[in-house]
Amino acid sequence: MITLRDVSKSYDGTVKAVDNITLTVQSGEIFGFLGPNGAGKTTTIKMITGILTPDQGSILVGGHDIVREPLAAKCSFGFVPDDPHIFPRLKAIEYLRFIGDIYHVSTEERVSRIDLLSRRFGLKDVLNDRIQSYSHGMRQKLMIIGALLPAPDVWILDEPMTGLDPRSSYILKEMMREHADCGKTVFFSTHILDVAEKICDRLAIIDQGRIMFCGTIQEMRNHFSSESSLETMFLDLVGGTAENEAGGV
Ligand SMILES: Nc1ncnc2c1ncn2[C@@H]1O[C@H](COP(=O)(O)OP(=O)(O)OP(=O)(O)O)[C@@H](O)[C@H]1O
Ligand SMILES: [Mg+2]
Repeated sequence: MITLRDVSKSYDGTVKAVDNITLTVQSGEIFGFLGPNGAGKTTTIKMITGILTPDQGSILVGGHDIVREPLAAKCSFGFVPDDPHIFPRLKAIEYLRFIGDIYHVSTEERVSRIDLLSRRFGLKDVLNDRIQSYSHGMRQKLMIIGALLPAPDVWILDEPMTGLDPRSSYILKEMMREHADCGKTVFFSTHILDVAEKICDRLAIIDQGRIMFCGTIQEMRNHFSSESSLETMFLDLVGGTAENEAGGV
């Protein structure tokens, strides 16, 4: 479970990248975080994961306050950032062993999880290669394997499908579903509205740092009193339609 209460953040002290948002991501759900470029998704995720400190408000992850109990909170989640640039000189297996050491994953669990996850994502045969030789998609998959290696209850993924081939993307979505169905939490940002529409139990749309909508797709349809696609409703909410762009002229 993730809870944000009245959270704000500005980078230069004036424009708020995140403006007083309150959200609860329940256990047992896949929660999608949507919004246009620069809306505040990554800033929010960086605050949830303790990379940035909120100017105001509180954040609980797995029942722990990320500012007051950072270690306990960080032990409860796995995080895949939007930029998979990590330790290029390490071999992939060295990176995974390093993660295993930090999170105290036993040798037995480590071996079986690395084997399972690397087979699932097709990296088993290249684990002894250096990360610098990996493609963008391979690095992304390695980040995902590393994040899941400690078997965290809460998954936090910033645009995790970017750069993944269709098969890997399918496998990740399948794993997200399995994880939520076990009563665990999945929070992810995406620009792929089709994916959000298919797999999210609930979603939030953020624009200019503010939550424009939070709920199920059906609740959004009820709000718009229509059977519109998520794309149409999204563009209506964030002002991206041709009519809106024309500013009513
Ligand atoms: N390090 C930074 N310094 C100053 N401003 C920043 C910084 N990082 C982000 N911003 C600003 O904060 C706002 C929110 O950015 P953020 O990266 O959270 O958006 P996002 O929703 O993740 O966008 P995208 O979909 O492009 O990833 C933007 O206006 C951005 O320019
Ligand atoms: Mg972002």
